[in-house]
Amino acid sequence: MEVQRVGVVLRSFQPETEVTVRGWIRTKRELKEFAFVEVNDGSSMANLQVIFDRNYPDYENVLKQLNTGVAVEISGTIAESPAKGQRIELRASDVKVYGEVEADTYPLQKKRHSFEFLRSIAHLRSRTNTLGAVFRVRNACSAAIHQFFQERGFLWVHTPILTANDCEGAGELFTVTNLDLNNLPRNEDGSVNFEEDFFGKRASLTVSGQLEAEAMALAFTNVYTFGPTFRAENSNTSRHLSEFWMVEPEMAFCDLQGDMDLAEEFLKYVFQAVLERCPEDMEFFNKRIDSTVLDTARHIIDSEFERIPYNKAIEILQKSDRKFEYPVEWGADLQSEHERYLTEEVFGKPVIVTDYPRDIKAFYMRQNDDGQTVAALDVLAPKIGEIIGGAQREERLDMLEKRIQEMGLNQDDLWWYLDLRRYGTVPHAGFGLGFERLIQYMTGMGNIRDVIPFPRTPENIEF
Ligand code: 4AD
Ligand code: MG
Repeated sequence: MEVQRVGVVLRSFQPETEVTVRGWIRTKRELKEFAFVEVNDGSSMANLQVIFDRNYPDYENVLKQLNTGVAVEISGTIAESPAKGQRIELRASDVKVYGEVEADTYPLQKKRHSFEFLRSIAHLRSRTNTLGAVFRVRNACSAAIHQFFQERGFLWVHTPILTANDCEGAGELFTVTNLDLNNLPRNEDGSVNFEEDFFGKRASLTVSGQLEAEAMALAFTNVYTFGPTFRAENSNTSRHLSEFWMVEPEMAFCDLQGDMDLAEEFLKYVFQAVLERCPEDMEFFNKRIDSTVLDTARHIIDSEFERIPYNKAIEILQKSDRKFEYPVEWGADLQSEHERYLTEEVFGKPVIVTDYPRDIKAFYMRQNDDGQTVAALDVLAPKIGEIIGGAQREERLDMLEKRIQEMGLNQDDLWWYLDLRRYGTVPHAGFGLGFERLIQYMTGMGNIRDVIPFPRTPENIEF
């Protein structure tokens, strides 16, 4: 008999059909005349309820084995379910036990576990309702992202993970070396001599694929990269990971307006797709995690994002009678409390803040004519704050060279990036979406560690 996925059976199989499913037992309930066993294979939130009749061969011994966590293959006949909330159930005729679990030793017993506890068993937590739903939404979201860009003719390019440049210039790099750490080669001034290292210069894990994506956009017009990025940022918050995934589109012949339009269209598309593909999981989040999740999603799809320049944002914040922990002054970066105030209280929807002071932004952003600001954009979302960061890039060679010097960056390392301004430069723009922040936003999950299977954060690299 062909093995079916539980989700497919629950959705579309009719009574009287014979079927085989495989999965892990979530619960077992033994009554006088029969026993219920719930099986889940990760394909849906709902379990398939399986009935073992008293007449099942060797009933007592078989049931003894069917503990929570056990891996099984069960065959039987679909029947209409008399129980509320489920259309069908499976009447078992045969069961094969794969991996057994000693009674009461399984860490995921039926009670509710805290997310904190579940993080300590990250290798098992995907078998819970919540994490199962998170990772299905994560999958649907990835697929929708590719679909969005593919439908619009963007080329998916693969930018390197090992790199010798610091795109954001924030110095949050993880060095990658194969030097003998107990016997480091030194320069005369005592610093490590990376010329002796594997790549002949200091290498690190990338913080962003943007610089290489720009090179690709200047060949293919519209591209995107979607991969892991790394930041040695010592921020232990519910929104920061040391390893996170970023979606970075880059468009040639595009300015900041076009960049904002894409960001907005993109977020709407992805929310819509997830609502359509994961209705059951989204209902679950709305009911159990955050009762505003569905309204938020619909609101994002239907409302126009607010667009304001940084100057205006500062003005609004200064005029408000809210006491902020961090002072609001022109020139300072917006703190998460400011971002949340703007999106949650002032506008009640995503806000795109543009044209930030150049001194708080990266070297590659295009300078505005006022000499003070750059063509940057941040998309801010309620509860999350910054979810997207992007910019129109400085395409003018002289301006870019000047900025690199002013900021004390090494021009020699960026020779190839500058070449792009020598050979057929055009206005171009792009952005980076923090994928886990998007998943948080969608699901209402409070901690970013619970939307990536195996989170990496300061002092945490288990699993
Ligand atoms: O604003 P960021 O630093 O922008 C860039 O890296 C640009 N090079 C992107 C581009 O224009 N192609 O990061 C982009 C997004 C942020 O808005 C945030 O959502 C997410 O990446 N992000 C993080 N997510 C989780 N953990 C962290 N430590 C993050 N740092 C940034
Ligand atoms: Mg940013």
